[in-house]
Amino acid sequence: MSSEAVEKAKEHFGAVLEQQLARVDRMKAAEDWLDFEALRPIIIGIIGGDGIGPYIAAQAQRVLEFMLEDEQKSGKVEFRVIEGLTIENRAKHNKPIPGDVLAEIKKCHVLLKGPTTTPRRGDPWPNVESANVAMRKELDLFANVRPVKVPKEGIDWMFFRENTEGAYALGSNGVDVTEDLAVDFTVTTTQGSDRIIRAAFEYAKKNGVNKVTLVTKANVVKTTDGKFLKIGQEIAREYPEIEVDDWYIDIMTAKLVDQKRRTQFKVMALPNLYGDILTDEAAEFQGGVGTAGSANIGKRYAMFEAIHGSAPRMVRENRAQYADPSSMIRAAAMLLSHIGFPDRAKMLEMALDICGQHERKLAITGRSDGATGQELADYIMETLQDKKLEAKWKSYQ
Ligand code: IPM
Ligand code: MG
Repeated sequence: MSSEAVEKAKEHFGAVLEQQLARVDRMKAAEDWLDFEALRPIIIGIIGGDGIGPYIAAQAQRVLEFMLEDEQKSGKVEFRVIEGLTIENRAKHNKPIPGDVLAEIKKCHVLLKGPTTTPRRGDPWPNVESANVAMRKELDLFANVRPVKVPKEGIDWMFFRENTEGAYALGSNGVDVTEDLAVDFTVTTTQGSDRIIRAAFEYAKKNGVNKVTLVTKANVVKTTDGKFLKIGQEIAREYPEIEVDDWYIDIMTAKLVDQKRRTQFKVMALPNLYGDILTDEAAEFQGGVGTAGSANIGKRYAMFEAIHGSAPRMVRENRAQYADPSSMIRAAAMLLSHIGFPDRAKMLEMALDICGQHERKLAITGRSDGATGQELADYIMETLQDKKLEAKWKSYQ
C-alpha cells in the first residue's frame, strides 16, 4: 500500500517538475513591456469581485473616470466592466476563473479588481484555487508592489513581493501521499527571482533610493530561499550606488515594530509568502489593510487591487455601501501611474491623504453612523478640483 502511494506521489512530483520547467522556458522567452504611450485605446477592465467588492470598485471607477475624462472622450482609454468573477460563478464552473471570464480579462490591458472570496476546506464552495493567485499566474503578474507610508513616523516603504512562485506556485498542487503524510512544494527559479529583485533595484535607482533589503529565511530554507538571496546579492553588484542588506523574515517582522530601526528600511524584495505576511503587518502602521493598495505587475498585463478581503459580513448586515473604498482608490492611483499618468496619480494620492488622514471632513466607520463610500468618493473628487491641492497637502506634511 505505501509503496503504491509513493509511486503515485512520485508521478505527481514528476508532472509538477515538467510544468515548472515549461514555465521557466516561457519566462526565458519573455516578451517586452507594453508601451502605453503608443497604445490606443488602453482598455481598463473593472472587476467587482465578491462581497463589498462591487461597491468599492464602482467608487474607484467613478474617481478614475473623473481623472481620465478627456482621455475617455478622445478614445485614448476605454473602461469595461467584467462580470462573473464571483464565488458563485467560480463554484458553478469549479474553476478559479471561468474560461469566458478569463477571455474577457485577457482583452484588457490593465485591471482594477475588487476582493474575491478565497475558498478553503470546509467552506460551502468547492475548494478551488484563489482567483487572485490564479490571475497572477495566468497573466504572469510577477511583481506585487505594495507601498506603505506614514510620513509622520518617517515610514516610507516599498515592498516588491514575488507573486508567482514560492509557496504559492503549487499551493493547490500539494499531495496527500498517505492519510498521514501531506507534502506541499515551494518553487524558486533563477528567472523568477531575477525579475522581481531587478524590479526592486530598478525602482530604487529611478527614485533615488540608496538601499534595497532582501528578506528570506535562507538559513533554514536553504535551497529555494538560498537561491533567492544569492541572486539578490549578484544583482546588487550591478548597482554599486545602492546598498544591499539582508534580513531573515522572523527578525524582519520584529524590526518593523522597532521605531528606531524601521525607518531605515526603504525598498524590500522578498519571496511570495513572506511578502504576503509582511505587507499586512506593514499596512497596519498606515491604518490597516483597508488603506493599502496593491499592484500586480507583469510585462503584458497589470492588475490593481485592495489588499483586504471581501467582508461578506458587511453585505449580510446591509452595510456594504458604508465600506471604505480608499484602498481601491489607492490602487486606482497606482493604475494611473502605470499607464503613463504619474502626475495625476500623485494628485490622487494627495487627495486621499488629505481626505483620509488630515482634513477628514467625512469619516468612514463601516456603519450607518459614518459616511458611505459614495460620499467619500465625492469628497475626494471635490478635493481633486482644489487648485491649491498640493500646497494644502504640503501643509500637512
Ligand atoms: C493578498 C491576499 C491573497 C494572497 C489571498 C486573497 C489569496 O492575502 O493579496 O495578499 O495570499 O496573496
Ligand atoms: Mg495577503
